[in-house]
Amino acid sequence: MSLIMAVPHAFSVAELKDLPTVLVSALSFILIPGALIFCLQLLQPGPVIKGAKGSLIDQYLFGIETKLGFLSGRSAYKFNALHEKYGTPTTPPHPISDPPLTLLLGNIVRFAPNQLSSNTLKGMRNIYGAAGKSNVFLKTAFYKAISRRNIFTAQDIHYHATVRKLFAPSLSPGCMAAHEPVIKGCIARFHDLVKTRMQRGSALSLNDLYYSLSVDMVSEVLLGKSLGCIERGRPFFWTEQLPRIFYWATIRDQFQGSGIPTMIKWMLRQILRKGIRQRSEEARMRLIREQLKATHTRRDIMVEVMERSESSTLPEDEIAENFSAIMLAGFHTTSHAICATIWLVLSHPDVRAELQTELRGAFTSTDDISLDVLAKLPWLNAVITEALRVYPPVPLGGARVSPGAYVDGVYVPAGVEVSTSLYALHHNSEYFANPYKFAPERWIDPASTDKKEAVQPFLLGSRSCIAKYFAQQMLLLTLASFFVEFDGTYVGRVRDWTTDSRCYAFWEIPDLKVRLQDRMASPSA
Ligand code: HEM
Repeated sequence: MSLIMAVPHAFSVAELKDLPTVLVSALSFILIPGALIFCLQLLQPGPVIKGAKGSLIDQYLFGIETKLGFLSGRSAYKFNALHEKYGTPTTPPHPISDPPLTLLLGNIVRFAPNQLSSNTLKGMRNIYGAAGKSNVFLKTAFYKAISRRNIFTAQDIHYHATVRKLFAPSLSPGCMAAHEPVIKGCIARFHDLVKTRMQRGSALSLNDLYYSLSVDMVSEVLLGKSLGCIERGRPFFWTEQLPRIFYWATIRDQFQGSGIPTMIKWMLRQILRKGIRQRSEEARMRLIREQLKATHTRRDIMVEVMERSESSTLPEDEIAENFSAIMLAGFHTTSHAICATIWLVLSHPDVRAELQTELRGAFTSTDDISLDVLAKLPWLNAVITEALRVYPPVPLGGARVSPGAYVDGVYVPAGVEVSTSLYALHHNSEYFANPYKFAPERWIDPASTDKKEAVQPFLLGSRSCIAKYFAQQMLLLTLASFFVEFDGTYVGRVRDWTTDSRCYAFWEIPDLKVRLQDRMASPSA
């Protein structure tokens, strides 16, 4: 039976022929008013902020250029370019600026009517380090659009403090050593997988593999259960949703106030009955509820948090939601940092030689690797910190709403959104000689005049990364193991990740395609 016969009263054949016209009319009905509202929104003047300029196009078209930058994934580079172009010149020009006279060193720039960016340490401390009730820069509506209320999205500072108090003790530096054997176990299983894949002979794409490793390391330490992604060789779809969520939140944020987000939400609801996002959330929450009931065989973070929760006011459902948020926040950040560091080292032969000499002098095999020794290796630590400087996994820093306060000497009226672009901060030539150069030696050389505290990939203040030490531990162990065990050549298409990656809150990292040799298997090892 044909579809038309099955639904005789829905459309006649003649009506179906007119379907394209009907669709075009329907779309025009939605899109034309939408576009008009959007244009009107662009014409709303923002507050006048002394010293905060925008690009020429933006000054006349109220942020359209930056919005396009966001939509095309070039926002991190755009912010940086704005700072270099419109920032306040230092007087006299800083001796280490590169090249000395052409760079204007920036304090704070306006990139849209109501939105500012800062690229200085002082600006960052003003925005993210503000303490007290009245002068806190709260997270913007962008976060609210991401998901339900949790440690990452919450605007309510009391709620946030309650959650942070519950989880933070288990993520402090002193608690991390207990998880070292579990992480090493994940890495050993991961290297077995890589070696099996190497037998196929061709170059390997490491992105999915390292993502699988990150998922298993985080879930093992956090929930006491590996998700089995390493054995599977690829992640589950429901672990991978964050970049999509950030992508749509970024797109929607550009149309905020125009009525278009509501329209997009409505249209998506019509198209996707039971969206992939909902299915991902359900899968994550199912896992967490199972683990909350399961018997745990060691003191993972869930065991500690649940013990502490007895004296907390947070209900179990909220705790589960926060486990989900924390877990999700760790997957991409960690795997992106690992992949970017491997790319940076493989594409800088001198750095690779120094690093391998150091590591292979300290350990004969990955079994010998220990955090105590890793923490004292200057090249390894310098390489990781420098990689987080040139390619910060969260390149933009989070947007915050000003309570009406000074940011780096500029008064930012209440309600204006302001952020520190970590990419721009880390490339500020006021702080770093040759800021675009991947130069781990700057962290070792006692003569270096670089301002080290201007590298803040985990942000600072009460909303900084709660899992900074956990992340650092995973990076140390994973990267040391890789360079002890493998020799590799990068054969990916994108030549320079630092200039050619797209960014929607996170980077969309290029393909880490490498040809690997198992050093332990070769006679000269
Ligand atoms: C190299 C790895 C990592 C980097 C560079 C990083 C960076 C950051 C940054 C910049 C923020 C602030 C974001 C904002 O305000 O919008 C943040 C927050 C956060 N990160 Fe990380 N992160 C990393 C790994 C992890 C891991 C492994 C986890 C969990 C297992 C995690 C959990 C979180 C959570 C829950 C927050 C929100 C904290 C709060 O608002 O109190 N991160 N991270």
